[in-house]
Amino acid sequence: MLGRVSSLVTILIFAQTGILYSHHEAAHWSCDSNADTHVQAHFNPGRITLDGQVDDWKDMDGSAFSVLPALDPDADKAYNGGKMTVKASHDGKDVFFMLQVDGDYTYSEGYSNKTASVALMFQIGENASYHRMGGCEEEPDTCTSKSCKGHEVDLMHFSIGKAIPGRLYGGNLLDNSEGNGGDRFGHLVDLYCWNPHCRYLDGYGPSVNDTSAQNDWKGTWWHSSLTHSGFIKDDSPYSSSNQSGAYYFEFSRPLRTMDRLQQDAQFTIGKTSKMSVAFWYPENGKPWHGSGHFSISCDWILLDILADSSELTKVPQRSSWDAATAFSLLFSVVAFCISIFVGHRVSRTKNIPFTPMSNL
Ligand SMILES: *[C@@H]1O[C@H](CO)[C@@H](O)[C@H](O)[C@H]1NC(C)=O
Ligand SMILES: *[C@@H]1O[C@H](CO)[C@@H](O)[C@H](O)[C@H]1NC(C)=O
Ligand SMILES: *[C@@H]1O[C@H](CO)[C@@H](O)[C@H](O)[C@H]1NC(C)=O
Ligand SMILES: *[C@@H]1O[C@H](CO)[C@@H](O)[C@H](O)[C@H]1NC(C)=O
Repeated sequence: MLGRVSSLVTILIFAQTGILYSHHEAAHWSCDSNADTHVQAHFNPGRITLDGQVDDWKDMDGSAFSVLPALDPDADKAYNGGKMTVKASHDGKDVFFMLQVDGDYTYSEGYSNKTASVALMFQIGENASYHRMGGCEEEPDTCTSKSCKGHEVDLMHFSIGKAIPGRLYGGNLLDNSEGNGGDRFGHLVDLYCWNPHCRYLDGYGPSVNDTSAQNDWKGTWWHSSLTHSGFIKDDSPYSSSNQSGAYYFEFSRPLRTMDRLQQDAQFTIGKTSKMSVAFWYPENGKPWHGSGHFSISCDWILLDILADSSELTKVPQRSSWDAATAFSLLFSVVAFCISIFVGHRVSRTKNIPFTPMSNL
């Protein structure tokens, strides 16, 4: 587990330190940000099943993003599978995300960087920048929750290298009882960071581990070339290599978590949060590494958690209110009559037998 995490960290460090953060590269870092793009999570109770199938999302609007290399967001180097669609929804308790991106089916069991992988990233601290994942200036040996205060970023990373399509991964009893953001079964992990070098599973830290953390995420994946459901491990690789189609990822998390360490973003109905999505894919069969790390944006994307607007939309629909009012009036008259009838019957029944408790 830790090996995987540290290798991920290594990948990221490799990815992010490569060139970008040297002073030379900073000069031609340009971000043509889609600052106007809002991913909107409407109130849709009872709509989404976390099963990797996306039919339940089809009536919801999403946003399509170009998928560009995270370190060099240049349209010429875009992911060759095209755009990624991102949708969000909430049911008042949980927030749901759906990511859809075209890509040939590839699965190499246990070898994460020969399969697709995604991460979600959210701002926690008000001073956490998208660029440099929080942007705390400290080095790994000096970053702490104090020295990087305000730069906290929440991450969810799903490497599907050992996750069976359609099965649910993420927070589970075993890892959550140990109080960290790990997932030993499917590698759908809950992390936080202050910059790309200071990146930890929830609960772990540079100087102290706190076992009050949890993996609050659940999620699953699917590929459109898969023809039946109910897969088990032995069915791997689930479809034939290089089958064209689309990848679907579905995730959910409670809007609010029990985090007390500034390691989870907290979502509020009616408020806007900041997020981004990263994507790794073994292009042309080559295992992904740092430079294969794509992103849907080069700055934060806004995520609106919208309040239930049904009352507002229903007010003008007079007829439906009238029908409801008439029905409830009828219902209360009937209930009133029944209660008079029952009261009358009871008052006439003088000899209600009394059975003491001790005789039962
Ligand atoms: C964010 O930065 C501003 C300006 O440097 C500072 O006043 C504020 O306290 C910082 N916020 C946090 C949470 O550290
Ligand atoms: C935190 O836990 C991990 C895994 O058990 C361990 O490797 C690490 O040394 C711990 N860190 C601290 C500061 O105790
Ligand atoms: C799938 O595509 C990759 C890269 O194009 C190629 O190396 C590999 O041999 C292909 N696999 C099959 C089974 O065709
Ligand atoms: C693939 O990922 C593993 C860790 O998961 C890493 O050790 C290896 O170097 C990566 N391979 C490439 C080609 O980046």
